[in-house]
Amino acid sequence: MGKKIFSGVQPTGNLHLGNYLGAIKNFVKLSNDKNNQCIFCVVDLHAITVFQDPKDLRNNICETVATFVASGIDPKKSIIFNQSQVSAHSEAAWILSCIARMGWLNRMTQFKEKAGKDKEKASIGLYSYPVLMAADILLYDSTHVPVGDDQKQHLELCRDIAQKFNNDFHLNDFFKVPEPLIQNQFSRIMSLKDGLKKMSKSDSSDLSRINLTDKKDEIINKIKKAKTDPMPMPSSPEELEKRHEAKNLLGIYSSLSDYTLEKTINEFSGKNFSEFKEKLSQVIVDKIVPISVEIKKLLDEKKYLDEILLDGCKKANEIATKKIKKIHEILGF
Ligand code: ADP
Ligand code: TRP
Repeated sequence: MGKKIFSGVQPTGNLHLGNYLGAIKNFVKLSNDKNNQCIFCVVDLHAITVFQDPKDLRNNICETVATFVASGIDPKKSIIFNQSQVSAHSEAAWILSCIARMGWLNRMTQFKEKAGKDKEKASIGLYSYPVLMAADILLYDSTHVPVGDDQKQHLELCRDIAQKFNNDFHLNDFFKVPEPLIQNQFSRIMSLKDGLKKMSKSDSSDLSRINLTDKKDEIINKIKKAKTDPMPMPSSPEELEKRHEAKNLLGIYSSLSDYTLEKTINEFSGKNFSEFKEKLSQVIVDKIVPISVEIKKLLDEKKYLDEILLDGCKKANEIATKKIKKIHEILGF
């Protein structure tokens, strides 16, 4: 039997190579398999857990849809929609927040990172964010959830919530317990400026990431300026243990070329970094520039993007409303 795939991306701007290699590339592959049913959600309710300027948010929703389509997701075959337009998500999130335990949420490392030192000032939404994520997944009986490595803990929480709900109401299989789909190699792309920090939308330095809307010159310049170390190119993976920046760049090259890390190391062993960086720029440009061009083209076709969302919302609503009705019955509402 085919898989029921669900995943989400926040419309918070600056979609980057980490989002592409960690998540979107996998979405495209899964959506091209005819046996799978795929749903890709622009999670605008998640985005507002930190303040968003309404005009920026609107643009970023369009840009995220454009990125999905430009990367190769066919809106006729997969459902693409935005979360806020299917009210079952907010409703299920409330209900599931009565199932999830404080102790479980207190363990979430992403909240600790995002809230920073002053947790008292973080929004309640930022804290309960993983419960909304569980609602997203469980409403669609999703069997598999492709995400980057940083979402693993949230997926485990989703599984716990599904199991507790099923147990509390003596139901075997009401909520499907979903499996994460995390690429085992190169699942976490790091900043170009610091090999220990995740490549991120919110990094204040634009040089730290390759945006999916970057032009050729910007990509070449960013790779030229990417941090490396003074040692020669490695000749074995073991040499990379403490060379985080070099490891990240070789990982990006491997992932884009569908090579193993070993194969990339063999190709460049004994050469110098500048030669490697030139080749790396080339593979990034080859992959990202066509996507970037297509995103820009689609952004000029707002009506088309709106139609995709409208159609996706209609389909998502049908599925989610049925599930919410059943939840009401189970709860005794
Ligand atoms: P973020 O703010 O972390 O970029 P998103 O909701 O936009 O959050 O993330 C979308 C997807 O991209 C998620 O599956 C996430 O795990 C993945 N992702 C984000 N950053 C990276 C990264 N640096 N490396 C690999 N995957 C990433
Ligand atoms: N929390 C995810 C992130 O920041 C985005 C997300 C929201 C998601 N809902 C989801 C991912 C459901 C997978 C499934 O990357």
